Amino acid sequence: MQAAAYSRTGPAPDVLELIQMDRPVPGPGEVRVRIAWSGVNPSDVKSRAGTRLKTLPFARVVPHSDGSGVIDAVGDGVSKERIGQRVWIWNAAWNRADGTAAEWIALPSAQAVALPAGVSLEVGACLGIPALTACHAVGVDGGVAGKRVLVAGGAGAVGHYAVQMARLSAASCVIATVSSEEKAAHARAAGADVVIDYRREDVVARVMQATQDHGVDCIIEVDFAANAALDLSLLAPEGRIVVYGSGASNMSVPFVPAIVKNARMSFFIVYNLSDADRARATRQLHAWLDAGSLQHTIALRVPLEQIAHAHEVVESGRVIGNVVLRVGGGE
Ligand SMILES: NC(=O)c1ccc[n+]([C@@H]2O[C@H](COP(=O)([O-])OP(=O)(O)OC[C@H]3O[C@@H](n4cnc5c(N)ncnc54)[C@H](OP(=O)(O)O)[C@@H]3O)[C@@H](O)[C@H]2O)c1
Repeated sequence: MQAAAYSRTGPAPDVLELIQMDRPVPGPGEVRVRIAWSGVNPSDVKSRAGTRLKTLPFARVVPHSDGSGVIDAVGDGVSKERIGQRVWIWNAAWNRADGTAAEWIALPSAQAVALPAGVSLEVGACLGIPALTACHAVGVDGGVAGKRVLVAGGAGAVGHYAVQMARLSAASCVIATVSSEEKAAHARAAGADVVIDYRREDVVARVMQATQDHGVDCIIEVDFAANAALDLSLLAPEGRIVVYGSGASNMSVPFVPAIVKNARMSFFIVYNLSDADRARATRQLHAWLDAGSLQHTIALRVPLEQIAHAHEVVESGRVIGNVVLRVGGGE
């Protein structure tokens, strides 16, 4: 079968190559999926670039944790009824050498989740990281019902889902920050009540105006290193900052504003959600998918052969929405 892989970290065109591999055979408890779409996320790009670790955990890495396709074989202990099921995949490249940038993948049955009817396979390749991250961020610690919520980067792949999900979760006010008119329109269409251009506007003044000087009860944060001080200026007493991203690996948090507000901060990475949190987020996500309540944004679809281009596009931050690779075998 064909796959894309790298055996050293570095720039996408230098290290990503198309290779031939043996088609995997599902082991006990595993399913084999004929991949239709492989989702490219910033995390995949950082791993390949060597931003996190310069040395690879495996001699060769087939990238990408997200993907979708159809189960075509099962290992011992997995019901044959799963054969033919359309699925979305999570954590395929997390602590594993072989991700979804390949024509087939074998992985534990639980990591291939039946895709709700009516949801396309290309959307299925955006669920494992962007949608589930947003779903957990909005639902964690009692959720956001009745709360004033700020989604930093409300036009991002995660942020756009978070705006929608905060709205669907009955937040009393959803505020999004963006950096352009196009992104403002995208966040507004997702349901943001107030959209603020954080590069050009006085974010504190706009948030205070929108919340009658109360501040926001919950911030869903894409870049805590850049925004920690701002967030603490905007946060209401007893408020919570849910951090899923940071543009820098070290950050400083102003102590006095944090302590006088009894600020709560929680950090999470979607790869390491507990079983209970993952199950809760997945249940909620499927309820919204079943109801057709979510808008999805596929910014770029390219064939597997153009994986290096896809990585460069994600790296550039230029697109609004998700980037997916067409691998074959699907809609
Ligand atoms: N913890 C987790 O499990 C998890 C899961 C998914 C993603 N992430 C991380 O979260 C980040 C975003 O991922 P993504 O897929 O949503 O990427 P994306 O589609 O590129 O979106 C990022 C968005 O954040 C905005 N942004 C960047 N810096 C900002 C700032 N200082 N203030 C406000 N907005 C800002 C960007 O717009 P402008 O640059 O135009 O402002 C962009 O709209 C990445 O670092 C990724 O690795 C973490």
